[in-house]
Amino acid sequence: MRFEDKNTGDIRLPRHIALIMDGNGRWAAKRGRPRKFGHRAGVKVLNDVAKYLFSLGVEYVTVYAFSTENVNRPPDEVEELISLIRRYFKTTFREFIALGIHVRAMGDETYFPPDVVDIIKKLDADSRGRSRGVLNIALNYGGRDEIVRAANLAAAGGGPIDRAAVEARLYTAGMPDPDLIVRTGGEKRLSNFLLYQAAYAELFFTDTLWPDFSRADVDAILGEFSRRERRFGRI
Ligand code: IPE
Ligand code: IPE
Ligand code: MG
Repeated sequence: MRFEDKNTGDIRLPRHIALIMDGNGRWAAKRGRPRKFGHRAGVKVLNDVAKYLFSLGVEYVTVYAFSTENVNRPPDEVEELISLIRRYFKTTFREFIALGIHVRAMGDETYFPPDVVDIIKKLDADSRGRSRGVLNIALNYGGRDEIVRAANLAAAGGGPIDRAAVEARLYTAGMPDPDLIVRTGGEKRLSNFLLYQAAYAELFFTDTLWPDFSRADVDAILGEFSRRERRFGRI
């Protein structure tokens, strides 16, 4: 029993894990390869780590794949990322359907070419209603944009703009907040990820570059998570 609470002995597995998959470019540079080589390795790791998390019983996995700031990278890198999205949503990520997982994107999709938007929507539709878990893939996602968007939608709804009204319009509406947010690649910041939902998330930072992240790293983090005391402001 790897993830037991040190006081009660209960297994404490998070319901929702969020991952900031950082370090692909540096991983490639260390090998003298172009950055796109790191992104290609990174998406394979995403596929494997997400499947592992769902196999453990985690219900929600949210991954930061492409931020609203990443659009400012050189065009050839952005094109490589878009072509990886196109390829994986069309093929490999469809494997999640058989595992009972709903795969959906969160972010401003209007940025992407129409064929990519169609491919993303198709997997969302084909996997909708799967009840074992949800894989949220943040694409052209920014936490600030998400909050502003939710506030605008709430205002257009005409009712009071309270927390419930905003939360119902976040991309994660209806889902629990992430219990933990993991950032690989050594940087210790959120870089505009899940700013609203992160309020009480446990934060984990590891120097491991995302393409080197493994199931053993997941086990170590879940072990530490089960030993942390979450107080939510109480004593
Ligand atoms: C994370 O890796 C993936 C994306 C942001 C798309 P990076 O591409 O940021 O890799 P580093 O941080 O430059 O090594
Ligand atoms: C955060 O990584 C975004 C993703 C992992 C998709 P960045 O590499 O873009 O973040 P900064 O620029 O180091 O803050
Ligand atoms: Mg980075």
